[in-house]
Amino acid sequence: MDLRRYIADIPDFPRPGIVFKDITPLFLDRAALRYVVDRFAQLARELRADFVLAAEARGFVLGGAIAAAADAGFVLARKPGKLPRETESVEYQLEYGVDALEMHADALAGGARVLVHDDLLATGGTASALCELVERKGAEVVACAFVIELAFLGGRARLAGRRVESLVVFD
Ligand code: PRP
Ligand code: ADE
Repeated sequence: MDLRRYIADIPDFPRPGIVFKDITPLFLDRAALRYVVDRFAQLARELRADFVLAAEARGFVLGGAIAAAADAGFVLARKPGKLPRETESVEYQLEYGVDALEMHADALAGGARVLVHDDLLATGGTASALCELVERKGAEVVACAFVIELAFLGGRARLAGRRVESLVVFD
């Protein structure tokens, strides 16, 4: 399926000079949504993932659906102060800022097999932070799965050593 037609370019959002890739048309289309969930659920099953880990907000949209379709659990990575129990926390750099992500400290244990998911790979700051949360626990990142990869920002290099799958790559 050609997913590019469901991704809109929005110039100068959220800041001048950023071309924002709007994935919401893909989420609106039932066939495209089903296709993406099925592709990543199949990957999760092939890699025997126990959990899908994704970051709020856009990572949650497909992350939970992929986990349910793959018969895996879902782990939330949230912005600081949102999770109610003890957390692991990691700071990271965005294409347009600095932020941190937290995961419940007891969400993953050693030996767990984790598919890291996000809607989009840009600089790789978010995804490498997610991988760090997994690996700190002695769990394993079986793959990182993105709908969109902005290859010109070099995020893949920050994920070196992990399998990276993207459905639409912009060079
Ligand atoms: C976007 C996107 C990824 C991240 C990718 O999230 O959903 O999580 O940026 O950028 P990176 O590879 O440079 O880290 P954003 O932080 O804008 O938050 P949102 O999902 O709440 O919109
Ligand atoms: N997250 C980081 N960079 C982005 C971009 N250019 N479009 C959409 N989401 C993003």
